[in-house]
Order: sequence, then structure tokens, then C-alpha cells
Amino acid sequence: MTVIGLGLMGQALAGAFLRDGYPTTVWNRTAAKAEQLVAQGARLADSAGDAVAASPLVVVCVSDYGAVHELLDPLGEVLDGRVLVNLTSGTSRVARETAEWAARRGAAYLDGAIMAIPPAIGTADAVILYSGPRSAFDLYEPVLRSLGAGTTYLDGDHGLSSLYDVAVLSLMWNILNGFLQGAALLGAAGVDAATFAPIAKMGIGTVADWVSGYAQQIDDGTYPALDSTIDTHLAAMEHLIHESEFLGVDAELPRFVKALTDRAVADGHSGNGYAAMIEQFRKPSGVRP
Ligand SMILES: NC(=O)c1ccc[n+]([C@@H]2O[C@H](COP(=O)([O-])OP(=O)(O)OC[C@H]3O[C@@H](n4cnc5c(N)ncnc54)[C@H](OP(=O)(O)O)[C@@H]3O)[C@@H](O)[C@H]2O)c1
Repeated sequence: MTVIGLGLMGQALAGAFLRDGYPTTVWNRTAAKAEQLVAQGARLADSAGDAVAASPLVVVCVSDYGAVHELLDPLGEVLDGRVLVNLTSGTSRVARETAEWAARRGAAYLDGAIMAIPPAIGTADAVILYSGPRSAFDLYEPVLRSLGAGTTYLDGDHGLSSLYDVAVLSLMWNILNGFLQGAALLGAAGVDAATFAPIAKMGIGTVADWVSGYAQQIDDGTYPALDSTIDTHLAAMEHLIHESEFLGVDAELPRFVKALTDRAVADGHSGNGYAAMIEQFRKPSGVRP
């Protein structure tokens, strides 16, 4: 295999291939970053073109898609007949454009999203999502699995791995922001974040248990209030805003959440369950009153 891009993530990817005994060629713009891998048995290519030519499977992991194109655009036909796996983070639109670009060069293209940090690569904790031709994934699945036990094929649509990536990041940031808001509120009353943490984890676990039921309601397009209504949520949101203002904690995020909920009420969802809020998230932000 070939790994192009030996930043923190690329080094971890190449290291996992080497640990599993795969002959691995590497290349990086700054050659010094290959030293440890070479000591572990990697071959350092003279150029990006040499690196691509060395293997039928080429993994690229650099800062952004601009760098991917800067590296691979000048290489001409050398990609022809190879499987190119791009593990660089980006957007679904750019992933689809890069798939068309790769097809014009005769390469089978898989776009991947790494949902793990470098130390997790090669372990049971690493989730890596792939989209693109199933045949290319199937051909190299055992090799790709050495990068993480959570190696998962999604779909033929090259944009999906990037979309899942931002969807999960959005989820994580929202959970973390909720935790930080709570920690700030309790901190104002002298409660340590560490004291709050076990209760916060219980709250996160409770919400995790709701996800499948809410997903079913979203897919069905009906939102019966099985637990509490949007009106009940709205009243509690007002408490959160008042507490934040009273304690001198930033109330902007709670106010934004309440504004979205007010719009759901204006759309007639006051008696529905919280999953009805999906309709607010589906609207482009520019069309709101
Ligand atoms: N680190 C993480 O936790 C993590 C997690 C998930 C996904 N990712 C994704 O993995 C990708 C790489 O992340 P990283 O953590 O490895 O970043 P990094 O440590 O900053 O490494 C960036 C890599 O990109 C190369 N590069 C940047 N611009 C280039 C250019 N114009 N031409 C050639 N090479 C160029 C760098 O080469 P030089 O060494 O020569 O500068 C280096 O190999 C990113 O898309 C990131 O979002 C990272």
C-alpha cells in the first residue's frame, strides 16, 4: 500500500499497515516525518508520483482537498487502474467532485471519513466510514480494516462519508456545549465540573436512549408526544435562560434553542413531541421570519 501525507493522522495510518505486515510505501512533503516509519520498515518514495506508482491501493490523508489536488493533479495517468482512498476531511460536494476527477483519471475512488484520533487508529475504537464503489471497498476491506475495527461501508454516493462526519461532529459539539453550559451554571453556584460529570453522563445516556424512537417519528413524519410536549420543553427553556442571565452565564445558546422552539410552536407543534423540531432544522436559515 501507499500512504501519502504523514501528518499526525497519516503517520498513524501507515503505522497500522506496517504493524499488520503490509508492505508500505510512504511519501510526505516534509520528508523528515517519514523517519520513524522508515525505521519500522516503510519505503520512502522519491516523489508523490513514485509513491502512487508503487501500489495498487493509494491512501491519501492531508490537510484539505486543495492539498490533495495540489499533490495529485500534476501526476497525469499514473492513477489509472488504482484504487484511491482519500481520508482527508472535507464536504460532500467536494468529495463528489473529487470522485468525478478521479474517474477521469481512471482510478476507482473511495472517500473516507476518519471518526477517531491518531492514537486510536488500528484499534477497536477507530471508526472509519467509506463511500464510493462497493467493489473497490470489498477488494481492500481486509487491508482497510487494519486501520480500525469500525471500518464501515456506507453507500455508492461518494458524498455520504463527509456528511456522516459533520453530522456526528454536530452531535458531539451540541452535547459538549450542553455539558459546558451546565458546568458554567453549576460552577456559578460553586459546584465543580467533576461533581456535575456523573449526573451529566446520566442525562446524555437518557437522551441516547431516546434517539431510536425519535428517528422512527422523524422517518414517519408524525411526532406524538409520548413523554412531554414542546410546550413543556419551552417552559423549561425559559428557566434555563433566566438562570443563565441571573448567574451571569452566557445565555445566547439557550436563547437560540428557545427561538427555534418558538418557531415550532408558531408552526402548530406545541402539543407534539420534541422530534417535531426536525422541521425547523430542515429549513434553510435564510427563509426564517
Ligand atoms: N488528527 C486528527 O485527530 C484527525 C481526526 C479525523 C480526521 N482527521 C483528518 O485527517 C487529515 C490530516 O490531519 P492530520 O491530523 O494528519 O493533520 P497534520 O498533522 O496537520 O498533517 C497535515 C498533512 O497534510 C500535508 N499537507 C498540507 N498541505 C499540503 C500541501 N499543499 N501539499 C502537500 N502536503 C500538504 C502536511 O505535509 P507537511 O508535513 O509537509 O506539512 C501533512 O502531511 C485532515 O483532513 C484532518 O481533518 C484528523
